[in-house]
Amino acid sequence: MPLRHIHRPDRAAAWKKALLYGLAALTVFAACFIVYFFYSWGTDGDLKEFVDNSAQLTSLARPDEPILPIAIPTGLDTQKVALGQILFRDTRLSRNNTVSCATCHDLARGGVDHLPRSFGVDGAEGDINTPTVYNSSFNFRQFWDGRAASLEEQAEGPILNPVEMASSWEHVVSVLEEDPQIRARFRAIYGGAVTPVRVMEVIAEFERSLVTPSRFDRWLKGDERALSDKELEGYRLFKRHGCIACHQGVNVGGNIFQKFGVMLDYFAGKTVTRADLGRFNVTGREEDKYVFKVPGLRNIALTAPYFHDASAQNLHEAVAIMGRYQLGLDLPSEEVQLIVLFLTTLTGEQL
Ligand code: HEC
Ligand code: HEC
Repeated sequence: MPLRHIHRPDRAAAWKKALLYGLAALTVFAACFIVYFFYSWGTDGDLKEFVDNSAQLTSLARPDEPILPIAIPTGLDTQKVALGQILFRDTRLSRNNTVSCATCHDLARGGVDHLPRSFGVDGAEGDINTPTVYNSSFNFRQFWDGRAASLEEQAEGPILNPVEMASSWEHVVSVLEEDPQIRARFRAIYGGAVTPVRVMEVIAEFERSLVTPSRFDRWLKGDERALSDKELEGYRLFKRHGCIACHQGVNVGGNIFQKFGVMLDYFAGKTVTRADLGRFNVTGREEDKYVFKVPGLRNIALTAPYFHDASAQNLHEAVAIMGRYQLGLDLPSEEVQLIVLFLTTLTGEQL
């Protein structure tokens, strides 16, 4: 009995101790879990992570590179973006309710239609390959021939174009005014009616939200592990051979006009169409024949076929043609392969 008596408090103390250790271990475990959760949440490759990394890595940025990282647009009007998104997909904007912007600019497939030429209302065939709408806000002009100075100005083109939406502003405004929800949204944003200018403005605001930061941006911001050695080698070739002279800036293009066929005549032996004349159609100047806005190369791996005339079916072919006609180089296929690997790192992570 006395023995028992002596041992009792000891046992209680042991239990207490065990309980305390248990609780401590549990706390440490929970803390680890929370840290891990936030860490993995912050590295799942989404926009949030990109923004976080951007902030952390600015001190390590590479200011000397001729390609600039995508800056996430700030100050966009979220109400306009949301309404623009609705209108972008609204087939009622077309003459017979069959075609929307998204018909040709499929946002789930790189912002294009993957056809040599697009098809509008009643199957009317266009005369040029559809460029992507992603990152188009970084282009200094819109369209292959640069005939629109802004996204606002651009948006009118397809709505009125007889081989695209074949519509009229009268039709668009009346359709949108008759839809109580759309009508209310315009009232909320502008305190007034649907007008052509407002329609163009909200669509353009939506398009400004379509930016796609990629792995290459992470590398530009200092993350060494973002690219493999081969991808980096491809980037070095892209610079060394001179692709960079035309494809540079934020959109890896989109900021100058250049002739297609600088070193060799790309159109020799082909039937030249009006679309092939490029910038000439805007200026009427002889020296602008076959001159195009240099296309941006972001998401290029997603947007086959290539060139204004869709004359290249895949990226290897397009890169080899660029080497030959723009630089006077017959690139060995291993180099073409490496450049293609680099171009693939421009595929945006949001898509
Ligand atoms: C029938 C297919 C079709 C429809 C519908 C269409 N587009 Fe396009 N889009 C094209 C083609 C083709 C081009 C290139 C035309 C050219 O350069 O002459 C283009 C060019 C553009 C460009 C310029 C991109 C660049 O890099 O120059 C933007 C931006 C754009 N479209 C947005 C829109 C919007 C907004 C709508 C709806 C209001 C729309 N598109 C409807 C086929 C279409
Ligand atoms: C002298 C300027 C110039 C140089 C140098 C140049 N490009 Fe281009 N690039 C253009 C122009 C202009 C176009 C549009 C041609 C067209 O479709 O009419 C283009 C188009 C492309 C396209 C197709 C884009 C699309 O959306 O269809 C790819 C891919 C491309 N270039 C990659 C390269 C690569 C890789 C190099 C280096 C081997 C290179 N370019 C060198 C001016 C240039």
